Amino acid sequence: MGVTIVGAQLGDEGKGKFADIYSESADVIVRFQGGNNAGHTVVANGEEFKLHHIPSGVLRDGTGVIGNGCVVDPGVLLEELDGLRERGVDPDLRVAERAHVIMPYHRVIDGVEEDAKGDMAAGTTGRGIGPTYEDKVGRRGVRVLDLLKPDTLREKLEYVVPTKQALVEDVFGIDVEDNGYADAFDVDAVHEEYVEYGEHIADTVVDASAYINRRMDEGDDVLFEGAQGTSLDIDHGIYPYLTSSNTTVGGASTGTGVGATRLSETVGIMKAYLSRVGTGPLPTELEDDVGDHLVEVGEEYGTTTGRRRRVGWFDLPMVRHAARVNDFTGAVLTSIDVLEGLDPVRVCEAYELDGERLESMPADMDEWARCEPVYRDFDGWDDVDWDAVGTYDDIPPNARDYVEYLEEQVGAPFYAISVGPAREQTIIREDPFGQP
Ligand code: IMP
Repeated sequence: MGVTIVGAQLGDEGKGKFADIYSESADVIVRFQGGNNAGHTVVANGEEFKLHHIPSGVLRDGTGVIGNGCVVDPGVLLEELDGLRERGVDPDLRVAERAHVIMPYHRVIDGVEEDAKGDMAAGTTGRGIGPTYEDKVGRRGVRVLDLLKPDTLREKLEYVVPTKQALVEDVFGIDVEDNGYADAFDVDAVHEEYVEYGEHIADTVVDASAYINRRMDEGDDVLFEGAQGTSLDIDHGIYPYLTSSNTTVGGASTGTGVGATRLSETVGIMKAYLSRVGTGPLPTELEDDVGDHLVEVGEEYGTTTGRRRRVGWFDLPMVRHAARVNDFTGAVLTSIDVLEGLDPVRVCEAYELDGERLESMPADMDEWARCEPVYRDFDGWDDVDWDAVGTYDDIPPNARDYVEYLEEQVGAPFYAISVGPAREQTIIREDPFGQP
């Protein structure tokens, strides 16, 4: 069967931990969108692993697949593979031949364009993600399979690279030589570097759709591991302050070549409060002592960029939108331990905009910026020994009131509740793969 996990908020909800836990039941673990903008921190056997490209589930001996909906920076991928091997993990990895490749000029354009955009900047991770997806849609992208065909790659680069240099120099007015970007626009150097990457990854390159479907035909269980979160989805998120891929469940089908009806379960991962790396409005944002508490206790610093994350109270209009777009069959609530010591604990149950109550977030960011949160307050909880929390009933009653309210509002059963970063700090109520 196929189980998809997606972020219900703005990324960093704790998907990495559940990808790791659920991958114990899965034979194949698939990334279907995004690239090394994602960062999953997984604690396994007491060791901390930070992964960007490789599905975190490979730490459990499954086969990892990077699907066609992903964008791949091969230099980063190879570095990540080497890092894992040095620590005794030799992952079984397949990379979709149809996935698009992040090129050096994409990274340059990402930075140059963000600088030029002013208020429209998304605060990207600077990894070249957006420009790579732009070239995919513009039908001028480099795909993984092109790295295995040096002549085709050269032909593409000879057309594309001068257009990119002209964009940077003539549109954005940035001289590539003077700014240290010349290597990214040197066709010979880029060609040589990427042909070499092709040689290193050649053994992993497959028709990923055929591969995953065959494994499913053979009865294997597949975990589709979403990156970022629903509100960062290019279609359903907070445009333009978002990423350039479909982070929602539809992306799991188009980004892998697995039919939508094979995706049996969709589990929304949501954090008990909100965090955000990047720009744009955030109605429940906390810039006070409570915000400092969430950042410090929740260690809210970006896995990929190290940036301090912005934080806020749980935003139900955002999560209701996510529950509808993805049709969650189940959900996971993470980080309730981080709220310990706060009183009251607040949930934004709706917005008020121009005297009207909104249950779900608007598409218009000017409107979203003007939304006033309507809060519901819960009594806090304190002095909890989270290590001693083994079952749901061990959670303090006030925290349970909070959890049960959210569960009812989300409209999907909470399959698990996470009470700390480690695997053991998890209350599992149901396994989406149906394991007892
Ligand atoms: P990009 O994906 O690098 O183009 O960044 C676009 C927006 O998505 C920025 O606001 C980023 O901060 C945000 N973003 C991208 N990846 C992640 C992630 O894994 N977690 C949280 N935010 C992310």
